[in-house]
Amino acid sequence: MATMESLIGLVNRIQKACTVLGDYGGGDNTFSSLWEALPSVAVVGGQSSGKSSVLESIVGRDFLPRGSGIVTRRPLVLQLHKTEDGSQEYAEFLHLPKRRFSDFAVVRKEIQDETDRITGKSKQISPVPIHLSIYSPYVVNLTLIDLPGLTKVAVEGQPESIVQDIETMVRAYVEKPNCIILAISPANQDIATSDAIKLAREVDPSGERTFGVLTKLDLMDKGTNALDVLEGRSYRLQHPWVGIVNRSQADINKNVDMIVARRKEREYFATSPDYGHLSNKMGSEYLAKLLSKHLESAIRARIPSITSLINKTIDELESEMEHLGRPIAVDAGAKLYTILELCRAFDKVFKEHLDGGRPGGDR
Ligand code: GDP
Ligand code: NA
Ligand code: MG
Repeated sequence: MATMESLIGLVNRIQKACTVLGDYGGGDNTFSSLWEALPSVAVVGGQSSGKSSVLESIVGRDFLPRGSGIVTRRPLVLQLHKTEDGSQEYAEFLHLPKRRFSDFAVVRKEIQDETDRITGKSKQISPVPIHLSIYSPYVVNLTLIDLPGLTKVAVEGQPESIVQDIETMVRAYVEKPNCIILAISPANQDIATSDAIKLAREVDPSGERTFGVLTKLDLMDKGTNALDVLEGRSYRLQHPWVGIVNRSQADINKNVDMIVARRKEREYFATSPDYGHLSNKMGSEYLAKLLSKHLESAIRARIPSITSLINKTIDELESEMEHLGRPIAVDAGAKLYTILELCRAFDKVFKEHLDGGRPGGDR
């Protein structure tokens, strides 16, 4: 397992290097195809269904803007990098490469400011992603993408095209075959009306890369429960549904922290007369483990195709390096060198895997 963990870590680092190089290389190049060959997880659902809240719970830190209405207005590509036990936790934005953020309230503020920088303070949206990396001993290695919520009507100050624009933006992520879809539906609305399920069903009809997540279980009408959904009778997916209780708006206003929220969520399921029998398969911590496990097997299944892409990238990088000449003084050269080293490390670990799963040498 240690090897697989470091493989996901390598995938993460390559994705990050590709992103940086994407800027350098510009648009559609080897690096963007390599990026897309590597699995990531996108969060999809209607506005205020709880997408950002679920992401925060998976990360275990408070750092995303949340609330009613359209809060997430640009895609947020969030890379979680697991670091050594005991190491300092920090966050870094691609657009501010020299700054380390250790205060997550400041991270939230920067996401808001950076959103406004492109969209203005209006309720406009933009497909230009914000890239954020979190380095922490407490996270699992994952790339998660938070997306604007699907809506049915434009509100005051938004162009009529916004409904379609958001759908197009979200679709561009979830239609990629390597995208794992976290389809979020609120339990206090009929599942038949779920925007998340509607879109997931279109782009992933077999349900093999869709995880159904049901939020707001605590907000259902008294005397009703969500067992038909959670037990797969309403809408069957290949993966089990996971029920979630996030913080309410009142909790957010009172600054209820993540640790307390997770404890309350665990208690909710453990003591629930309806869901008690499912309690060890519910909640955000379980969802995080489920996703990480799935990501492992998704990477495992793609080892041959990723390896050939990696080799192609190595070839291209080597000839580009030759072209640039050594020693490398320019920034771009140094970046190319980094990704080349990562690709070589990746190739080595993959080969060891294929040679009968001997442990990798990098951990
Ligand atoms: P998004 O628009 O889909 O990203 O949704 P947010 O995560 O911003 O949440 C929208 C609102 O719903 C916030 O006020 C949250 O506090 C609230 N909310 C989200 N999930 C839950 C939940 O499971 N229970 C309760 N009571 N409120 C929730
Ligand atoms: Na919202
Ligand atoms: Mg959101």
